[in-house]
Amino acid sequence: MIDMQQTKIKVNFSRVLGTPLVPLCARAKISKEYSSLFNDAKAIELIEQIDYDFLTLEKSSGDYLLFATAARAMQFDNKVKAYIKEHPHASVVNLGAGFDTGFYRVDNGAIHWYDLDLPEIIEVRKHLLPEMNRTACIANSFLDPGWCQAIKNENGIFMIAGGLFRFFDEAQVRQFFSLIADRLPGSEIVFEAESKSSNDVDGRCGAYGAGWSDEEPEKRDAMQEDCIRALKNGWTILPQSLKSQMIGALTTSTRPQSAEWDDFETWWDQLSAQEKGEAMSDFFFGFTCKCPLEDASEMVAWDDRITVVDQFPLFRDIPRDPSLSMSVRQFMDYTDEKGRIKIVHVRV
Ligand SMILES: C[S@@+](CC[C@H](N)C(=O)[O-])C[C@H]1O[C@@H](n2cnc3c(N)ncnc32)[C@H](O)[C@@H]1O
Repeated sequence: MIDMQQTKIKVNFSRVLGTPLVPLCARAKISKEYSSLFNDAKAIELIEQIDYDFLTLEKSSGDYLLFATAARAMQFDNKVKAYIKEHPHASVVNLGAGFDTGFYRVDNGAIHWYDLDLPEIIEVRKHLLPEMNRTACIANSFLDPGWCQAIKNENGIFMIAGGLFRFFDEAQVRQFFSLIADRLPGSEIVFEAESKSSNDVDGRCGAYGAGWSDEEPEKRDAMQEDCIRALKNGWTILPQSLKSQMIGALTTSTRPQSAEWDDFETWWDQLSAQEKGEAMSDFFFGFTCKCPLEDASEMVAWDDRITVVDQFPLFRDIPRDPSLSMSVRQFMDYTDEKGRIKIVHVRV
């Protein structure tokens, strides 16, 4: 997975569910552009070390997605900081850690921090972010009970799961919470939950359009219309410019696991019109959460050992900085008003 011959690290993510490069890119970009809101110097350092076209990723992801992803990190950081203030020697477990540099943002000099991810990601992670005194990597699935025994369980356990549960069915997510209730009772867990409405087409097209500049509202609106028509009518009606944007976006979300990263366009060209239509719809729904949750209280029916500590809209208390584009600010309001994405905090 790692090409050691190169100065920069080349990573092949073909087998990984949900690329960790988007959130890394988001944290670096938002740190660079809005350092008063969020500061992740380590993320900026990391993207310099990885051989990847982050600029294209940035463009295809769109401003809203990048800001929303960084907002999740801001909210998680606040939650971790509050917990470790009360439990300074706690264990913090970052589930589906990817290349998150949360430890560097919140460390109090006493916590124990665990980054858990699939073996192929951990291999790269260890290279980029070597384990230290109080940090450890765990190469395992969060659904495997085996990793629980590696966690120091004397001073409280706090877990974060960013951009992880959305790839799993509700049954699997429930299984995870029951696993924690069995093996590490008393743990607190923070994650983002998406409502069913966050999966609808309008939202996706809107979010997609939000990536376009406010200086060109007609163009942005036309793009959204194109997106909706495309979803209804199929690939052939799309202008080439939008096809390219979609290909860019698809590489980050819905590429088939079997295709090699660099072979994306070859894979795309081989698809039939119908498959392209399906892939496009995957593009819109590729961000679809497989286990939407309208309200955290629903979790109590999953397992009565779950207690809801807190839940609130993703952008709560995050300043609508005037330097953010108008469409990003509008989307923050829209997302919060509709309860599309929530930060959920539970104890098991
Ligand atoms: C969208 S990324 C989010 C990464 C990180 N939480 C962040 O915010 O930067 C999703 C991560 O979940 C990891 N993942 C997917 N399936 C997993 C599993 N079964 N167990 C643990 N991690 C998993 C992926 O490898 C990837 O790093």
